[in-house]
Amino acid sequence: EKGGYEHYMLKEIHEQPTALRQAISGRIDEMKGQVDLELDLPAEYLNSLEEVQFIACGTSYHAGLYAAKLFEEYADVRASAEIASEYEFTGGRDPWRTLVVAVTQSGETADTLSALKRAKRAGARTLAVTNTLGSTVTREVDDTVFIRAGPEIGVAATKTFCSQVATLALVAVHVSRKRGTISSAEAQELLSDLRGLPGAVQQVLDAEGQVRLAAEEHGDGDAFFFIGRRLGAPVALEGALKLKEISYDHAEGFPAGELKHGPLALVTSETPVLAVLTEGAKARETLNNVKEVESRGAPVIGCASDVVDAEKFVDKVFTVPELGELEPLVANVYFQLFSYYVANQKGRSIDKPRNLAKSVTVE
Ligand code: M6R
Repeated sequence: EKGGYEHYMLKEIHEQPTALRQAISGRIDEMKGQVDLELDLPAEYLNSLEEVQFIACGTSYHAGLYAAKLFEEYADVRASAEIASEYEFTGGRDPWRTLVVAVTQSGETADTLSALKRAKRAGARTLAVTNTLGSTVTREVDDTVFIRAGPEIGVAATKTFCSQVATLALVAVHVSRKRGTISSAEAQELLSDLRGLPGAVQQVLDAEGQVRLAAEEHGDGDAFFFIGRRLGAPVALEGALKLKEISYDHAEGFPAGELKHGPLALVTSETPVLAVLTEGAKARETLNNVKEVESRGAPVIGCASDVVDAEKFVDKVFTVPELGELEPLVANVYFQLFSYYVANQKGRSIDKPRNLAKSVTVE
């Protein structure tokens, strides 16, 4: 049932190109620069929209952070992601002009469902982005978009993160076109990147051997730091979460600019740093932070596209194909593989890490 893979997690990492094709199948009209999601969000409502809030936990929260950046940029609307267990509907928001999007793979996460109830009580319009047909969240919201990733058995979310971000990007294009905040040419560009996403992820999967070697070389670090800016920041958080969840190693992810405001004190030659150096992630600025950690002796692995001449600055480069705003999402696949191989060489219980459950149904 694991299709020849040692763990479900590795199988699911490899299923990403297929999952992504399913996520976009039949939903894109690239010629017109339009998206069809069978969503009942009238243009009139979308035009009066003032704010979009993504509520979620864990990996889904990181997908929400990525989406919030895309919404701000394309839909020209205030957008934020909030950790569901911290969420309150307060602070001068107009409920009629606020769209609350619950991002949840399982559709059963108690924290997310209870945050959603707070939003509904306040009168906000709600949308669910989920993987699970018939899940509780779908009964609570005004509209649902399925990510169509197929079942995910490993406790660590991998393919569903990728499919969440891709699906949320589709929603961003849909909303932006209805609001008239992007031209059909701009939409076509993002949509063509989305079409290229499965192939780009496949290219990363084809470089798996390289990641495995890097994991062997650096897997014994005292701690691991993941850094990135803009769309690279949620990917840094996600990279660290994945590594700590399955390897039980100490890992931290943060926006690269924050390094010098504290975490730099922890950096030594025993703390590998993994950096997102792609389009959409302010790679040049992040290189400054790479220099800061290198001068403290830290080995640096950069997931980099052509936007920077990464070879000159980092110890190891994982190549990310050109894909505009989706490059950080592709970089994340390297982080998934890195976490997997670090955990695997330590013999961890990868599909069922200690203390964790796939679906967290208590608050
Ligand atoms: O089913 P959900 O997307 O609502 O789950 C949210 C989190 O519990 C989940 O993403 C968790 O962080 C994963 N185990 C991370 O790999």
